[in-house]
Order: sequence, then C-alpha cells, then structure tokens
Amino acid sequence: MKKYLLTLVNGELSYYEINTILNLKSTPYKILIKNNNFLILEIESLKEFSKLGGVYKIIEITAENESIEKLYKSIKQNNEFVWLEEKARWCLSYYSIEKTNNAIYKKMSEYLNEEISKLVKKNKQMNNDILEDSFREISVNKIKTITEIVLAYDGKKFYIGKTKIIFNSTDYIKRDLSRPFQDSSISISPRIARILVNLLGLKNNQTVLDPFCGTGTFLIEASILGLNVMGTDKRKECVNGTRKNLQWINKNQKKINNNIMVNDAEKLVSFQKRTIDGIVTEPILLPNLKRHPNEIKTRELLKITQKIYVKAMISMNRVLKENGKLVIVTPRVKTNRGKFISLDILHMIKESGFRFTRIHKNNQPIIVKYSKDQKIIREVWVMQKEENSTQS
Ligand SMILES: C[S@@+](CC[C@H](N)C(=O)[O-])C[C@H]1O[C@@H](n2cnc3c(N)ncnc32)[C@H](O)[C@@H]1O
Repeated sequence: MKKYLLTLVNGELSYYEINTILNLKSTPYKILIKNNNFLILEIESLKEFSKLGGVYKIIEITAENESIEKLYKSIKQNNEFVWLEEKARWCLSYYSIEKTNNAIYKKMSEYLNEEISKLVKKNKQMNNDILEDSFREISVNKIKTITEIVLAYDGKKFYIGKTKIIFNSTDYIKRDLSRPFQDSSISISPRIARILVNLLGLKNNQTVLDPFCGTGTFLIEASILGLNVMGTDKRKECVNGTRKNLQWINKNQKKINNNIMVNDAEKLVSFQKRTIDGIVTEPILLPNLKRHPNEIKTRELLKITQKIYVKAMISMNRVLKENGKLVIVTPRVKTNRGKFISLDILHMIKESGFRFTRIHKNNQPIIVKYSKDQKIIREVWVMQKEENSTQS
C-alpha cells in the first residue's frame, strides 16, 4: 500500500468523512497520523476519494525522517527528482502542526533549488523555474504544468512527496455564487454541506431528506452524489428557490418539484413512517444576531429553539428507516462575556429516540471552523435512530 498525505478542510469533520466513505466501500486503509491540518494514511488506490468535500490535496509521500538534512539525503539518493520530468517548473509547500517555521521551509527550498540547478545544467532542454509564489496554494489547473513538492511536519517527523490530486474548489464556489436562488444569511457553504452529506454514509439512489432545506445546499450536494433528494421548508419562497436550484444543477433532467414541498418540520405530515434513508439538516432557528447577546437573552432564545428541535427530531425519527442516520447542526452561541452556550443535546436525543454514533465518544460535537467574531458557531452531531423507536 502507498502512503499519502491529505490536507484537510476542517480537521475532525474531514477525518470522519474520510472514515465514513472508506468504511462504506470496505476499502482497506490505515490512518497513521492525524492532526487538524492533515492526515497520513496507507491505502491501495485513491478511487474512493473523488466524492470527498473535506480534502484540499492528496500528496504521495516518498520519504520521511526526523531531520530535514537526512530527509533530503534520502530523496537525493533515491533520485526522486524524476518528479520534475522534463520541465523543471516546481514549487514547494510546507504544512505543519506547529506555527510554520520559515527557516525550515527556506532550507528545504535551497536544497531543492541547488539540486535542480545541477540537473538543469546536465539537461539542456530544462529550465529551473521556481515559482515565486511557491508557498501559496496552486490551483487544480496548474497541477498539470507545475510539480508541487510538499514538505510536512507532524511534530516528530518530516515528510516529503509530490502532489497527485488537488480538489477543485471552483466548482463549490460556482455552486455557491451562481445558483439561481441564494440567501447568504441562512445558507451553509457547499463544501461543508458535502462533508455532512457524506457523513450519512449513504449509497447511490438511497433517499436523503432535509426538512429545513432553506436554499437547498445539502440537497444540491446530495443530488450530485447520486442520492434521491427530498426537502421541506415552511417558507414557500425557500421551497420554490430550492426547486430552481436543483433544476439548475440537474439541468432540468429530473422531476424535482414533487420532492420539495412546503411543510412544517415539526410534523412532516407529508411523509410515511420509515421511508427515508438519511436526514441531513441545519435548522439553527435563531434570529440574525447583530451583536453578541447577554447570557439571559441567549438562554431565552435557545429555550425556544430547543423546543422546536425536539419536536422536529421526533418527526424526523418517525420518517427514518430503522437505524437511519441523522446529521444535524445545532447552534452554540457566544455571549457578550465570551461564554459559549449550547442546546441540551442529551435531553434532545433522549426525547426523540436517537443515539449518538461512535463519533461522539465523549458526547461532544464536532465543531465547524469559525472566526473570532462569529456569534453563532455550528456544532455537528451524527445520530442514529434507536431500534423500535418509531412513534405513531
Ligand atoms: C438555517 S436555514 C437552512 C439553510 C440551508 N441549510 C441552506 O444552506 O440554505 C433554516 C431554514 O428552516 C426553515 N424553517 C424554520 N422553521 C421551520 C419549520 N418549523 N419547518 C420547516 N422549515 C422551517 C427556514 O425557513 C429556513 O429556510
């Protein structure tokens, strides 16, 4: 099996997404190193990775060592510069779990430059063409013409290798900014949506529901992955908008309208019991906060929200098939004093007939990356319907 380094969009979320996808296909693999920025794994083929949302790049590792001097010697001995093929257009990127150490980056860059210059002298056809902006990300289009050499440090060892795949961010950006119906005040990013859909671990043609569909971001990603999608929202505007977005992404080929409907997620009356394979949703249900609320206000808001979440989760439980999964986002509010307050998730899952999957060993959520001034932070939970918990 070959060794690969995967740079991650969102630490833990990406990690569980990778595990879910690989376990679904029973692909043999072994995760060797895991941190918030990257993971290293051994795997036979990269086939299963094409659907991932949580990975930026895949790098094939060719050498590893505790010191960069020894690391460099070993790549030199093994003639790793065949990486460069006939044109020496190259760049070096450095990923580290620690604050990036420029001296290390510079040293490796100098080593490589020196060696590549020698190579260029021998081979008259070749130019040593180091990209000045080498430390920055290269785009998927450039990967064909530029060799990206990647150096990584996990706190103990350095790793070096060549980038094999860069996942195309422009498709996500296009879906975010070009779809016919947009509302940035409520919608989640398509990349995060892709990760959360993948956490359901569903197979082609299984049915996924988002009962609080908003602009339909989850359903767009699910539809691209080959799942059957169903959605509800209590606002007609969102239902029409999600239909338009799905027709746009599916080039009007699929009959979408009947699957997206106005419905109160607290009841989900239009759905039969035990008919849905998986649910992915982000109700949030809080007003747009202009400033950080105080603790009393936060608790008041969350109390109302929690009641709706519980009712909706009971109705979601009813429509899910036995052992069906629910991936749900809940709000964590940061108060004006910097305190974080969340919903009472243990109460909620008990009331609604769900249990945590193994992801939540300590009953803790996975947190979506957030900025310092964000008032509402996203907590992600992956739950499973308890056996025989369907209520009438
Ligand atoms: C945070 S937004 C979801 C955004 C969505 N994930 C997206 O990316 O566009 C929540 C949505 O839930 C809808 N909603 C609120 N209460 C609802 C209820 N009881 N039943 C159904 N939809 C509801 C709102 O209209 C809103 O569109």
